[in-house]
Amino acid sequence: MKEYLKSNIFRVISDVAEIEGVDAYVIGGFVRDILLNRPSKDIDIVVVGSGVDFARKVAQRLRARKVTYFKNFGTAQLKHNEWDIEFVGARKESYRLDSRKPIVENGSLEDDQKRRDFTINALAIGLNKRNFGELIDPFNGLQDLKSKTIRTPLDPATTFSDDPLRMLRAIRFATQLNFDIELKTLDAIREMSSRITIVSIERVVDEINKMMASPRPSVGWLLLEQTGLLQHIFPELAAMKGVESRNGVSHKDNFYHTLEVLDNLSQKTDNLWLRWAALLHDIGKPKTKRFVAGQGWTFHGHEFLGAKMIPEIFRKLKLPLNDKMKYVQKMVLLHLRPIVLSQEVVTDSAVRRLLFDAGDDIDDLMMLCEADITSKNDSTVRKHLANFRIVRKKLKEVEEKDSIRNFQPPVTGEMIMEAFNLKPCREVGIIKNRIKDAILDGEIRNDFFEAYTLMLNAGKELGLSVVNIDPQYISMTNKC
Ligand code: CTP
Repeated sequence: MKEYLKSNIFRVISDVAEIEGVDAYVIGGFVRDILLNRPSKDIDIVVVGSGVDFARKVAQRLRARKVTYFKNFGTAQLKHNEWDIEFVGARKESYRLDSRKPIVENGSLEDDQKRRDFTINALAIGLNKRNFGELIDPFNGLQDLKSKTIRTPLDPATTFSDDPLRMLRAIRFATQLNFDIELKTLDAIREMSSRITIVSIERVVDEINKMMASPRPSVGWLLLEQTGLLQHIFPELAAMKGVESRNGVSHKDNFYHTLEVLDNLSQKTDNLWLRWAALLHDIGKPKTKRFVAGQGWTFHGHEFLGAKMIPEIFRKLKLPLNDKMKYVQKMVLLHLRPIVLSQEVVTDSAVRRLLFDAGDDIDDLMMLCEADITSKNDSTVRKHLANFRIVRKKLKEVEEKDSIRNFQPPVTGEMIMEAFNLKPCREVGIIKNRIKDAILDGEIRNDFFEAYTLMLNAGKELGLSVVNIDPQYISMTNKC
């Protein structure tokens, strides 16, 4: 362990502690992570005394310029080389870095440790000369690290009342580290789940995104569901759970199916937004569910409704309302297209349309669709995957031939208006679409001359007269 403390930073902190005659410890996530062999660059230092004064002394010695003092909160943050160091005085109050309440009472190291969230996050290492590198572990955090257990240092009800976000943090750490939540702690989460509603959505989503970035995000979503937290933070997803039967016909449980898709995809990519798309791809199913005699359960249009629901979900969860949201929306909208395609004869025209709609995100869409195959029947899975291989091959061929991926119409709206002397109007849109469809259907090639010829004909069909012909077109016609 002392290996990790060899950096100059810890020597300086140790010297300052000695000179100032105060006790200093490295504590929390940094200690947990070195014991788990996943060293981090975020260091939390707790001193028995003033964190701010101590930070000032350390900053002087390091000649560090990037120091921020939060006097009201008794904390200071120092950035030095690759390190990000947070200083705080030991406190009796519950420990929360982002608490809006100023700290009130100073305490001992043990006071501070017991007001932290989990035993594995309450481990401290001495930095004074007499105890340098010594682990201080009053709540058996080391044992919990070994047995992979998430447990609160105090009675869980007290720890969670101090900050209800910790219920979600327990689930996040369990997912991220592949740990189990101790039974008493888990029971308390179940009992107190409604308290999560007092926590700001930004803090909630921060934890959820860490969970989503884990190797198997389903672990967290299952725990959220089992504890009742899901209903409070994301009711639309909770609504996916359950199986209904009619006339002996049942549909699959869309919640579990979704989680399987999410895990399948997470094995292939770290792309957070594609993972969100996997989580949300069937979100429109509960509202589109129908039982149709002779057909069984149907979810017609769930991809359209799902895509429509995305902005509201992102707004509620305070996820970014920018191109990330649009990307997720597009994935949800298109997620059935490659499947439909692979079930039919794969025509060039259908492939061109898919390429046009998905653009550069086509590979991500294919990845999502492959993850969406969750049948237990091996031969069905093999058949689907083989079909997808054909679709992928076709996509490549068509793209090489027609460059549809970043399709820019060879004849623009301005050119149409110029030719027929029009202001922006319905006819311009009709002609533009006519050209786009002709290219996608393979009627004409993706080229200026053929598109312009079609434009002239389409205009005539609409009763428009040609006023100006593009000089480039005239010169091309002369060459023919
Ligand atoms: N902490 C806490 N209660 C919270 C948040 C944090 O007790 N609601 C304490 C824990 O001791 C934690 C430390 O503050 O270890 C630092 O918090 P934070 O940086 O949020 O988490 P880390 O444990 O460092 O983990 P990660 O870096 O993965 O977020």
